[in-house]
Amino acid sequence: MKGWQSGCLSRARRLWVFRGETAGGWAACRRALSSCNHYGQPPQIVQIPFLKRCKNQLKYHIFVSFVQARNTMLLTERHYSMSQTTVDPKEMKKFQLLAHKWWDEHGDYAALHSMNDIRVPFIRDTVLNMRNDHQPGSPLSGVKILDVGCGGGLLTEPLGRLGASVTGIDPLEDSIRTAELHKSFDPVLAERIQYKSCTLEDIVEEASDTFDVIVASEVVEHVADVEMFIRCCSKVLKPEGSLFITTINKSQLSYIFGIVVAERVLGIVPTGTHDWEKFIPPEELERLLESNGFLVKTVKGMLYNPLFGSWSWTESTNINYALHAVKSDIQEQVDPNLETDKEQLQTKTMASEPPAKTL
Ligand SMILES: C[S@@+](CC[C@H](N)C(=O)[O-])C[C@H]1O[C@@H](n2cnc3c(N)ncnc32)[C@H](O)[C@@H]1O
Repeated sequence: MKGWQSGCLSRARRLWVFRGETAGGWAACRRALSSCNHYGQPPQIVQIPFLKRCKNQLKYHIFVSFVQARNTMLLTERHYSMSQTTVDPKEMKKFQLLAHKWWDEHGDYAALHSMNDIRVPFIRDTVLNMRNDHQPGSPLSGVKILDVGCGGGLLTEPLGRLGASVTGIDPLEDSIRTAELHKSFDPVLAERIQYKSCTLEDIVEEASDTFDVIVASEVVEHVADVEMFIRCCSKVLKPEGSLFITTINKSQLSYIFGIVVAERVLGIVPTGTHDWEKFIPPEELERLLESNGFLVKTVKGMLYNPLFGSWSWTESTNINYALHAVKSDIQEQVDPNLETDKEQLQTKTMASEPPAKTL
């Protein structure tokens, strides 16, 4: 564990303390914890009782205590608000509880499984329309996709089967474990998909201008800072690269159908999955995208039929919608504030250490 010291504060209480003095913040902390193995088990619980900023503001001292006996991941809000990540710890707790249920087609994620029927063709056809060449049978071959907030890989896998080279990232390690396990059942995916437990801001520096396509499906309504998320997307996309987002509008109808009916009446998704305050109207998302160098090409409504458990396209974006935007290739020339933006982004991401594997 380079740059880390570890020690046992109180063996009786089984409390281990790791002390990190690098600029890597949470990403390094998580890597250090996942690489160690106490009592024969990987650490599952992380508490951050104390976090202190150093004078230069980019370095942290992080003290992490790990209680071996329990089996959940606890993330303090204080940590996240100070490190300014896109991750909302309350959301992580919700997804932690369901991290092993991704591939139950009739379970809590049934609606995401069936959403593939419309979102996969939407991504495939839009990408193909923008490219001149494609291989029959492997139409997305040669396309480098980043699936942000990939969860258990429900969307990552079909994109890989279409021939794309897909990197799936998610802050939740247990979801990435589930995704890795499921991927291992299909040898075709071994070379095409790689998963990593991290956030977008963790990879933004090393993966600058790397991806042809980013998909963030049903993710932005769960992040802590949508603007930071969009900025990071813009950084890691190649010029003229495509960003696909599916999410939920912030409307009266989305409250009635997305929360009251879906969660409380029909139980299509577990109660508490969504927080209406975090939903985002398409106009606001478009404004955010356009102010970060994107051209919004398509916004279309999506409708879920709970009787058949199926999705269809609709003109109304009142509840669910999908969006396709393209990163402008002249962004760097026309944006005089780029350096300021870059500095702000670096300050916001608190100079995360580069992850071990290059994307
Ligand atoms: C509703 S699930 C969607 C999963 C997947 N995209 C799909 O459609 O099957 C939302 C996912 O976003 C992830 N997530 C939440 N906040 C995130 C963030 N700030 N950055 C990346 N992923 C995030 C969660 O861990 C969860 O896996």
